Amino acid sequence: MSAPGGRVQPAFHRFQRVSSTSDVLRQLAREGHPEGTVVVAREQTGGRGRRGRGWVSPAGLGLYLSVLLRPTGLEAARVPRLTVLSAVAARRGILGATGLSAGIKWPNDLWMSGLKLGGILAEGSADSVVIGIGLNVGADLPKELEGRATSLSREKGRVVDSEPVLQEVTRQLLDLYRRWREQGFGSGVWDLLMEEYRQASILLGRPVRVITGRGKYGGLAQDVDEDGRLLVRVGPGDVRALSSADVSVRPDRPL
Ligand code: BTN
Repeated sequence: MSAPGGRVQPAFHRFQRVSSTSDVLRQLAREGHPEGTVVVAREQTGGRGRRGRGWVSPAGLGLYLSVLLRPTGLEAARVPRLTVLSAVAARRGILGATGLSAGIKWPNDLWMSGLKLGGILAEGSADSVVIGIGLNVGADLPKELEGRATSLSREKGRVVDSEPVLQEVTRQLLDLYRRWREQGFGSGVWDLLMEEYRQASILLGRPVRVITGRGKYGGLAQDVDEDGRLLVRVGPGDVRALSSADVSVRPDRPL
């Protein structure tokens, strides 16, 4: 919803349990709800992650939210940039609400202490984009995530309340989005976002392992290009532009 001055105000729809906040929000989008509509749930029974994976979402352990944007005028080819914007916003929101400084692992994971803290899944087209954000908050983690994931409460060493994190992440996302939209989705805000994304990246400048459907190989993560592809130097004169739809990339050594 746009307030005077073009500010996009969040309109929260809260649920105890849903299949996926993104599915509920897609339905609200079809019914004509405005951008800034946010769906939050305490539990998801069919949480979805990237590349067809699930997102384990037990009650009370995580923050599960989806935010609706309607970026009219944004070229279809540039819609994936909203993922970069969301990762930067989530990082800022976590910092503002908890003081914790998370890293961004390409393309759109939030990491701390070498472990996954959260992830982002952007879906849709320019007239309706659903940004789904999942963050581990509680000190307990689902058993299957032990050793691979961390949470805000673990990193903070005390119980973190998810409500201020929700408010701050949403505010940062809608503010950054509004500023970019006001510039006609041009390069000024985008260049700053890319700079912040690169600064927060935990992969750039590091040896990485690339996992494809056909095998694995190593390289050096050099940069992220304007289309969000990771540039990995595999050998002299051999720099590959990797799309997040095709590969997974891990740090080659513990961080
Ligand atoms: C990933 O790292 O694979 C992205 C995970 C995104 C999970 C969030 S939780 C809220 C929203 N609803 C979903 O079903 N998925 C996203």
